[in-house]
Amino acid sequence: MQKNIFVDTHCHLNDEKFNADINEVISRAVEAGVTRIINFGDTLNNSDRVVELTVEHEELYAGVGVHPEEAFDMSQDDLDRLAASTKHEKVVAIGEIGLDYYWEKDADRRRLQQKIFVAQLDVARQLDLPVCIHERDAHGDAMTILKREGRGLRGVMHCYSGSLEMARELWKMGWLIGVDGPLTFKNAAKLPEIVKAVPLDMLLIETDAPYMAPTPHRGKRNEPSYVVLVAEKLAEFRAEPIELIARQTTLNAERLYFNR
Ligand code: NI
Repeated sequence: MQKNIFVDTHCHLNDEKFNADINEVISRAVEAGVTRIINFGDTLNNSDRVVELTVEHEELYAGVGVHPEEAFDMSQDDLDRLAASTKHEKVVAIGEIGLDYYWEKDADRRRLQQKIFVAQLDVARQLDLPVCIHERDAHGDAMTILKREGRGLRGVMHCYSGSLEMARELWKMGWLIGVDGPLTFKNAAKLPEIVKAVPLDMLLIETDAPYMAPTPHRGKRNEPSYVVLVAEKLAEFRAEPIELIARQTTLNAERLYFNR
């Protein structure tokens, strides 16, 4: 039987939690069939680190961007630096970028998040790169911005936490839905219903490691090999074979990220 192949489309192996054993972590992933892993930066400095890692490890790819929790007033020089870092051949996306109103309650800081979100969407459009969006408790503003600024852009709403209605709007606009550990939690709320409704060609699987470890590793350090647990949950909820989930989510990742 042929082995199932997966892509972990979102994680952070640049996190210091992997300093001691990144080689073993990547070996376990490959062993589990997770042959490609996309790491995302959240500041300009660690975006550079994420790109360096792609040189050190064949399996790794990179997304570069400034995360909303790290928002600062990006100058044109900063945006140019971000654009320049995408010249490396294994940089496949701008991300993660977006809005996080869960951690940010201050109105001015939220406006700053919106400003640099829009500015980075603009960089992605100019470079014709897909975007990976982080959005937490900011559903309304995120959708408003995507409708207003999303022309000519493609990407994924990573670690999806919105409603079924919003998911439907997104996939109809051509945006993919990223699913990770919370799908496996007992309190997965409306996620099972949402992943049943999303067309299979609009779903991506991801870990967001070291965060969001799926059951039975919940609360511990997450790692890319566990993306298989997310795929298995998808197969269970959708009542589809794991082979189909593996094949189609891999094709989806290739369509979005690997056809430069
Ligand atoms: Ni992330």
